[in-house]
Amino acid sequence: MRDSGRSPVEAGGGGRNAVLAIALVVALGFSACLVAYTLRQRKPPIPADPGHLKSVEAPQCLSCHGPLGTQPRGRNHPLNDRCFNCHERT
Ligand code: HEC
Ligand code: HEC
Repeated sequence: MRDSGRSPVEAGGGGRNAVLAIALVVALGFSACLVAYTLRQRKPPIPADPGHLKSVEAPQCLSCHGPLGTQPRGRNHPLNDRCFNCHERT
């Protein structure tokens, strides 16, 4: 008898809770994908050979790693020429 006051609320809240639960699962899945994607972007360090120790600025890097250089970057490389933002020296 005391339940009669609560049951309509539970019936309505049950559906809302299910929607909230689904939204939460979707949101968690989405952020997990973002984190996984970020971690997959592996940035190779700059090799410590003489050619790399000599060059310290992006234009120098691009003389070899530019599209016309001897060692062009891959087609999937980010379109960003501030090399040291991403690549570290070893
Ligand atoms: C004289 C030409 C030359 C210049 C200048 C040069 N590189 Fe390189 N770079 C190469 C070659 C050749 C390779 C591949 C062979 C190796 O690992 O040494 C390479 C490899 C790399 C790699 C690693 C690739 C891998 O798969 O591990 C990175 C990162 C890199 N260079 C970044 C840079 C940056 C940043 C600069 C500017 C500071 C630069 N390079 C300047 C010729 C050059
Ligand atoms: C926004 C971050 C970022 C910047 C800025 C950046 N790189 Fe990279 N670089 C990466 C990532 C991520 C990879 C690995 C790509 C892959 O595995 O396909 C990479 C890979 C490389 C490689 C080896 C693989 C390939 O694609 O040939 C070279 C060489 C390289 N970068 C050179 C450079 C040079 C030179 C610059 C500056 C002109 C530069 N990068 C700027 C993120 C960056």
